[in-house]
Amino acid sequence: MHHLTLTPDDNAVLSPMLAEIAKGYDTIENLELIRRAPVLAQSLPVHVLEFLEEFRIGEPSALCVISGLDIDEGQLGPTPTHWRDSQFNSPAFAQEVFFLLCGSVLGDVFGWATQQDGRIMHDVLPIKGHENYEIGSNSLQHLSWHTEDAFHPCRGDYVALMCLKNPDAVETMVCDAADLDWSAVDVEALFEAEFTQMPDNSHQPQNATQSTGDPTVDRLRARSFALIQSWNDHPAKRPILFGDRDKPYMALDPYHMRTEGWPERSLAAFQGLCDQIEANMKDVILRPGDCVFIDNFRAVHGRKSFRPRYDGSDRWLKRLNVTRNLRGSRAWRPAADNRIIY
Ligand SMILES: [Fe+2]
Repeated sequence: MHHLTLTPDDNAVLSPMLAEIAKGYDTIENLELIRRAPVLAQSLPVHVLEFLEEFRIGEPSALCVISGLDIDEGQLGPTPTHWRDSQFNSPAFAQEVFFLLCGSVLGDVFGWATQQDGRIMHDVLPIKGHENYEIGSNSLQHLSWHTEDAFHPCRGDYVALMCLKNPDAVETMVCDAADLDWSAVDVEALFEAEFTQMPDNSHQPQNATQSTGDPTVDRLRARSFALIQSWNDHPAKRPILFGDRDKPYMALDPYHMRTEGWPERSLAAFQGLCDQIEANMKDVILRPGDCVFIDNFRAVHGRKSFRPRYDGSDRWLKRLNVTRNLRGSRAWRPAADNRIIY
């Protein structure tokens, strides 16, 4: 793990800086704030910038953690019951700014029209009714390990989590590709375009608000949901591994894969990779004030089951998707400076 702990001196520098930035905006979704984030990030302590840059370019680990950001849990108030309720008057706005700036050092933050109503910064919290549903807001059942947005060609290079509350020390699970015994895996077979990956449940229309109130956005979003439906019905064949054969990148979400029709060798290779991943999965317990940046090319992640409280004290994380190639998704976005993939 690539790990940095912020010191009291770091927090003494960061607190007034973050408060000053937060003062100028009403929400972390403010487009001007998000646009300025890479410039504002240059004011972060130099050792934080160097630490993130080493993670980005050196790939020392698939897991990067910055811990120790000051959070006054007493100030946070109750955990929202739904992500829809959290956008304005955030009690963690200063921490959200820190998280946004760090993400903007690694690349460009972006969102999905089909996920959490097109927000850039997501909430990860247990939602009533989702307890046993395969989605990040479930609780009583494990969130199966996966590459974030594995089905989509524009998936992020990093998925980042910031912990505000985790009172029951619920374990996030991460497996770093560097820990796998690749000699035990049929790498060649996994580089072949023989695998079908379906969209995951977080992009399904039943988890979206009926209308955003903007007819243009609604029209684009409807097109996006239709595309997702077509990928569900007719998934394209693609490889699971890519990049360097000695240190492969991977993209897989087995819960949302349909294995029928795969060649025997492909199926065996997939099983072999899954077995390796299961055997090398590690628990990471996020504490309030931890920001975790997971390399979405080099790691898969999940979460263990837990009993939701629904009393305002539930586990509460923020999530960001970060890409190093925003232009790679230009065909999916209505404007060069629009960060939402439709
Ligand atoms: Fe995820």
